[in-house]
Amino acid sequence: MKRSIVTTKDGSKTIRLEEWNEHYHSTHGAVQESMHVYIRAGLDHFLTKYQADEISVLEAGFGTGLNALLAQEWSEKTKTHIHYTGVEAFPISEEERHALDYSKVMPAANAKDIFYQLHEARWEEVVPLTEHFKLTKHQLFFAEMEMKNVADVVFYDAFGPRVQPELWEVPVFQKFYEALKPGGVFVTYCVKGTAKRAMQSIGFEVDIIEGPPGKRHMMRASKPC
Ligand SMILES: C[S@@+](CC[C@H](N)C(=O)[O-])C[C@H]1O[C@@H](n2cnc3c(N)ncnc32)[C@H](O)[C@@H]1O
Repeated sequence: MKRSIVTTKDGSKTIRLEEWNEHYHSTHGAVQESMHVYIRAGLDHFLTKYQADEISVLEAGFGTGLNALLAQEWSEKTKTHIHYTGVEAFPISEEERHALDYSKVMPAANAKDIFYQLHEARWEEVVPLTEHFKLTKHQLFFAEMEMKNVADVVFYDAFGPRVQPELWEVPVFQKFYEALKPGGVFVTYCVKGTAKRAMQSIGFEVDIIEGPPGKRHMMRASKPC
């Protein structure tokens, strides 16, 4: 499918799938959305709730690596160890990675180097990147995952239900429910009623909370302890 790089309203870039008219991030602001949905509503929330020294993050759709880059920066800022696992069926190309150039909109001086390392890291291996951050990337379809009780926080960042409805239904949600530890947190930008009900039917406790700029709401769910 043809992909192009576009600039979002906060100045950060994202990828657009031409045929689907679908973007990897919100066109209101890619970095802004990731910070709100995954870093603040996911990591800050988990840290406040559990005061954990180490957090295991599982991302559905590693894609551009933006969420991983922001999580790495957060791990150094909060001195919290993160083991970040990214699942991705269709990795982006080297050319796309260069064109995205997130280091331009990130405050950290080493952002360019970290972004490079996130993409260069070998697949299917645990790769320590910095003092507080290690990464494992799996090239897999979500439906192929077999993880059980390993994740504290799930970043669910699949394409929307308009273009991939099957990723917002019970069988795939079940995979992530099983991957979460009891008490684990699941965050996503999507608040579609059918997705919410599918999650509740598996056992998730679902909250609809304030969304990022340009979007009224987002969803945060947890697996009961
Ligand atoms: C909305 S994009 C977000 C990617 C990433 N979180 C980011 O910040 O760039 C969704 C990602 O899910 C991947 N994807 C789509 N269907 C998938 C599937 N069935 N299994 C695994 N990955 C999938 C896409 O290739 C894409 O990278």
